[in-house]
Amino acid sequence: MAQIIDGKAISARIKDELKEEVARKKTEGKQITLAVIQVGNDPASTVYVGNKKKACAYIGIDSVSYELPEETSQDELLALIDKLNEDPKITGILVQLPVPDHIDEDIIIRKISPKKDVDGFHPMSVGALCIGEKGFVSCTPAGVIKLLEYSGIEIAGKECVVIGRSNIVGKPMALLLLRENGTVTVCHSKTKDLKEVCKRADILVVAIGRPKMINEEYIKDGAVVIDVGIHRMDNGRLCGDVDFDRVVDKCSAITPVPGGVGPMTIAMLMYNVVNAE
Ligand code: GUN
Repeated sequence: MAQIIDGKAISARIKDELKEEVARKKTEGKQITLAVIQVGNDPASTVYVGNKKKACAYIGIDSVSYELPEETSQDELLALIDKLNEDPKITGILVQLPVPDHIDEDIIIRKISPKKDVDGFHPMSVGALCIGEKGFVSCTPAGVIKLLEYSGIEIAGKECVVIGRSNIVGKPMALLLLRENGTVTVCHSKTKDLKEVCKRADILVVAIGRPKMINEEYIKDGAVVIDVGIHRMDNGRLCGDVDFDRVVDKCSAITPVPGGVGPMTIAMLMYNVVNAE
C-alpha cells in the first residue's frame, strides 16, 4: 500500500511552526506585513485571496488588501506597487493573477521589488534560484520539496521527471530538484515517448493541467508520484492530473487531490512572507 502524502497535515505543521516564529520576531520588534492586491472580481481569485488573508491572520502576520476595480489602468496598478515597494512597513507584495487583459502580467511581475516578491515570480528571483543564490522560491514547487522532505523521501541521486514547463511550476520545480541533487528530466507537449520517460522516474512530478491523464502505464513500480493538478469533474468532485485509483497500487508514495500539493502553496507563501527581510 502506497504512503498517502498528507499535504493538509504537513501544511498545518508548517503554519504552526511559522506562527511561533512570527511571535518570536514580534518580540524582537520586527514588523511583517503582506500587501495583497486583487484587480477585478474573478470568483476563484477572490477565494484564493481570502484564503491567503486567513492564513496571515492565523500565523499572526498583518495583511493589507487592495481590491481594485476591473477597469484599473496598468499605470495605476504600477503606481500602487511603487508606493508599496517604497513603504518600509510593507515586507511582502502579492498581486493575484490573472490580472485583466488590458494589464500586462509580465510588466506587473517585474515592478514588484525582488526584496518583497513573496510569490517568487520576478526574473531576479527565478535567476537567483537558477544560480543557487538566496531569493524567494515559487510557492507550489517549494511546497513539493517540503512534502518530500517531511515524508522522508530522499531526492539526491534519484531520477526525477517533471511533466510541464511553466514558469510558475515546471521550470522552478526542475531547478529545485536539481538543487537537491536529483537527476532531472523535464517533459512537455513535444516530448517523444512520454510514457517511457515517465517510467524512468523514481520521483514523478505531474503539472500538465489535464485531468487524470497519468495512469499506471506511466509509472515505474515503487515510484513517488506528486500531482500538482486540480480539476473539478462533472460530478462536482476534485481530481488531479494523475488517475489516483489506477496508480496508487503501483507507487510507493502519492499525493492525493485534494489534500496533497494544494494546501502547501499557501503554507510556502506564508514561509516566504515570514522570511522576507
Ligand atoms: N494565481 C494562481 N496562483 C497564484 C499564485 O500562486 N500567486 C499569485 N499571485 N496569483 C496566483
